[in-house]
Parts: sequence; structure tokens; C-alpha cells
Amino acid sequence: MHEKTTDAPKTTGRVLHSHARWYDLLERVISHGWVKATREKLIELAAPAPGEKVLDVGCGTGTLAIAIKRQAGAGEVHGIDASPEMIQVAKEKSAKDGSDIDFRVALIEAIPFPDASFDLVTSSLTLHHLPDDLKEKGFLEIRRVLKPGGRFMAMDFAALSHSPLGHLLSILGHSRGESMVGRLTPMLKDAGFSDVEGIPTRHKNFAFIRAR
Ligand SMILES: C[S@@+](CC[C@H](N)C(=O)[O-])C[C@H]1O[C@@H](n2cnc3c(N)ncnc32)[C@H](O)[C@@H]1O
Repeated sequence: MHEKTTDAPKTTGRVLHSHARWYDLLERVISHGWVKATREKLIELAAPAPGEKVLDVGCGTGTLAIAIKRQAGAGEVHGIDASPEMIQVAKEKSAKDGSDIDFRVALIEAIPFPDASFDLVTSSLTLHHLPDDLKEKGFLEIRRVLKPGGRFMAMDFAALSHSPLGHLLSILGHSRGESMVGRLTPMLKDAGFSDVEGIPTRHKNFAFIRAR
């Protein structure tokens, strides 16, 4: 198990420092494979084309970015996360996989890329880790780094709960709280996205939101 390192950037988001090495296993066991299947569906819906430039925000251990790289082929794939421990695991996984991905410690509220850099920005199970003011800042940053016409595709709990117990209940299949799509749609529109669409998943506890 890794200790919290001192070079983690300051954020009000809920950053996962410990258990980075156990994250993938815990996720598989707790979600019975639903998260994996839902991430695969996210990639299908986001449809990264070969050669596109993609950023995964709150990439954690890099599972989504690595899967996208396989599909995006020659395209550049980047992943950022606030947790140095998660980024370390992501780097090790991509090295083992032989996939050339730029993983770096960085915050969604200060994305370290120039304007109009990406065709696609993705996020899986990250938005519920951010308080509302950080979601708003993050959406502005995502809009800024997307090229005109670029798309944002996120997956998260269908009902946003504000407590760790609420998140655990959602993972276990007992979603409670406010609709994620209902809550995030006006925030995304305020950030400059004009076309925002909620898409249900095959699992009632997760939902997709797509914005352009
Ligand atoms: C539940 S994990 C999801 C990880 C990964 N996307 C996945 O699907 O497995 C949420 C991630 O958000 C990260 N996070 C929290 N606040 C953040 C911020 N302000 N900027 C970037 N990442 C953040 C956490 O460190 C954590 O790795």
C-alpha cells in the first residue's frame, strides 16, 4: 500500500491516494464486472476514430485510456489524475500493455493543455468525486481544451449522492440521490456545450452524458 505523497496538487476533489494498487481488483469484485462492461459501452458511444486526440480526465489506474488507445490506434491518448499513486499504476499498466499513453498528475480544474487540443474528452466515475463548483470549473476546462465540434463523453452513477455511503450503495445496486443527467445538463450548457444528451446504460445505476 502506498502512502500519500507530498507532490499531489491541491484540490477539493476526492482524490484516491491509498489502495491505488488494489483499485482494479476491488472494482471487479464489488461491481461484478458491470463497470468494465459500462466502460466498454462508453468507448462504443464515444467512437474514438483512428488518429483522434483523446484526453481521459480523472483517469485513475488508466483502464479506460488504455482501452481507448487500442481503438484510437495512431491517435494520441492522454490521461490526467490528481493522484500520483493512481498515475503511477496507470503508467505501469500501459508500459506492460505496450501502449504509448501520456499519463500525468494534473487537475481537471487546471488541464495542462492548450485550447482546442482534443477531439474527445472522456471521464468515467470521476464527476461524483468533485464538488459542484469544481464540476463547473472542470467543464469549462474541458470545453476549452476540446476542438470546435469536439465531444465530451462521461459515465457516472445515474443518481448523484453526496456521501461515501451513498456511493457505496450505488455500486451495490441501490442508487439514491439526484439524477446525474438532470444535475449536470445545465452546468454543461453554462460551460458552453450546446448539445447535451443523457443516455441510459444497461445497468440502472450508471448513466452516460454526452456533450458537444
Ligand atoms: C472513482 S475514481 C475513477 C477512476 C477511473 N476514471 C476509473 O474509471 O476507474 C475517481 C478519480 O478521480 C480523481 N480525482 C479526484 N479529484 C480530481 C481532480 N480535481 N482532478 C483530477 N482527478 C481527480 C481521483 O484521484 C480518482 O482517481
